[in-house]
Amino acid sequence: MCMIMRFIALFFLLILLQPAQTADVFVDWDIGYVMVNRDGVNTRRAIGVNGKVPIPPVVATIGDTVYMNVHNSLDKPTSIHAHGLFQNGTNAMDGPAFVTQCPIPPGKSFTYIYKLMQSGTFWIHGHTSHQNSDGLRAVFIVRDGHQSPYKYKYDESIILYFEDWYKEEFAQRAADTMDPNKPFPPPHGYGTGLINGYNGNEVKPIHFKPNKTYRIHLVNMGSLYSVKVSLPGHNISVVEVDGIYTEPLEVDLIDIATAQRYSILVKTHDTADFNYRFNITMHVDFFPYSPGKSPITYMGDIIYNDDAPFKSIPQVNKPLLVELNDIYLRPLDGEPALPVDRSMEIVLSNGKFSNGLNLDMLNNITYKESPVPSLYTALSMGSLAMNSQVYGPQSNAVVLRHNEVTEFVIHNPSNLPHPFHMHGHAFQITEYGFSNKDYPQSPSPCLPPPTLYAQGAPIKRDTLVVPAFRKDIID
Ligand SMILES: *[C@@H]1O[C@H](CO)[C@@H](O)[C@H](O)[C@H]1NC(C)=O
Ligand SMILES: *[C@@H]1O[C@H](CO)[C@@H](O)[C@H](O)[C@H]1NC(C)=O
Ligand SMILES: *[C@@H]1O[C@H](CO)[C@@H](O)[C@H](O)[C@H]1NC(C)=O
Ligand SMILES: *[C@@H]1O[C@H](CO)[C@@H](O)[C@H](O)[C@H]1NC(C)=O
Ligand SMILES: *[C@@H]1O[C@H](CO)[C@@H](O)[C@H](O)[C@H]1NC(C)=O
Repeated sequence: MCMIMRFIALFFLLILLQPAQTADVFVDWDIGYVMVNRDGVNTRRAIGVNGKVPIPPVVATIGDTVYMNVHNSLDKPTSIHAHGLFQNGTNAMDGPAFVTQCPIPPGKSFTYIYKLMQSGTFWIHGHTSHQNSDGLRAVFIVRDGHQSPYKYKYDESIILYFEDWYKEEFAQRAADTMDPNKPFPPPHGYGTGLINGYNGNEVKPIHFKPNKTYRIHLVNMGSLYSVKVSLPGHNISVVEVDGIYTEPLEVDLIDIATAQRYSILVKTHDTADFNYRFNITMHVDFFPYSPGKSPITYMGDIIYNDDAPFKSIPQVNKPLLVELNDIYLRPLDGEPALPVDRSMEIVLSNGKFSNGLNLDMLNNITYKESPVPSLYTALSMGSLAMNSQVYGPQSNAVVLRHNEVTEFVIHNPSNLPHPFHMHGHAFQITEYGFSNKDYPQSPSPCLPPPTLYAQGAPIKRDTLVVPAFRKDIID
């Protein structure tokens, strides 16, 4: 699949507002190893904060300045990334090791300063050596404050966050996946789903009061799983995606890929006569090719009244569940598709390298970090900074000009859906379509999916999924 996105090299913010009250928020994170049993079966080493996994959510308000004091108590370097923050003018706070900073050495500290100019649903996670997959990840909510410009009123908010968990640490899973002599998918592809930090089979209930509207923040912090969320017996209205407010869209089901976020509004029933259940179905990318393993469904309770019976929701009332397709969402600011200055193709592929490993590539290059962070190179090379070669042969750098609108046509000729994230920006999704690239493993019984174009103002987000065998276009 391929997809087209458009984005402007300067960041666009929905609205810059300064609430009457702004605060300095201090968060102390001592990152270290913790022994935990998260799946009910295996006790293993995880990476946590202040001796804990899961790490409690960080909550602040637009206009606040968050001081994240990070101390590294690991025996290896670390860094953290606030996923979705544009870091307009504060690029050095973005976090990826050897892109915007040198990682924090063992025993040392670093303070990330986030001036919050966006609101919505974000997450903060390790951005060195995939430490997020071993537990270094937390939900990050930025509230609108008292002077919310938005039309969405709600009584209370709830967070539902999802993780995946495996017996093996990430380094082991990655080594097995890259080893061409090991079976693919590797057996630990089938991990355990965690919901709000708990094994999915032991998820804690959500409590609803009648006649209320809840805003539910949905965050997928997993490393592989995509998560389908439904609340049978309740209507779901999507109002935010990846920190971008949207016109409300009613759906039954939302498929949330790794790193994606949504806010939904749910209006409760007008009596407390029944309780309900919510349905979280987890899909590992590998599952469609491993019959019998997919998907895993976890049911949680929605409690109105401890003494009330559960209402069974007959599927027959709704034979076809309406699943969210993000190209149908409209941003609340109504910004039209940007005029394109230049267009670039990105082709995903996978191949065996001279080192004997199977690795993924973009435009035939597998990423390898440069010894000097790219931001430092950009700031020290003078006019040569516009030459992509100076960033290292395998950094695969693309140099954009300030305020330029670039269209990326992203092709996914593989048989696995693939999420793509862009730091520092939200991009417009303008088209989903069938890619014209070669599909050596194309499933012949599959018909090409229809091409979908954004109508009117395209949705903006920071993480999108390019489905298998397709191309998507973003600006
Ligand atoms: C980024 O910051 C600059 C300087 O403060 C400001 O002029 C510009 O409007 C900001 N960009 C966006 C998209 O908010
Ligand atoms: C959900 O929407 C349908 C159709 O608009 C409506 O009939 C129903 O009452 C709504 N359910 C709830 C719980 O609000
Ligand atoms: C919910 O609102 C309806 C309509 O206003 C009212 O009849 C009902 O008593 C309310 N339910 C509760 C539990 O307050
Ligand atoms: C849970 O949701 C999935 C869709 O993601 C659906 O196929 C399944 O039937 C649902 N299960 C229950 C028990 O509602
Ligand atoms: C990648 O490699 C393939 C096969 O060697 C070649 O056909 C293709 O043009 C290359 N693509 C790019 C973007 O270099």
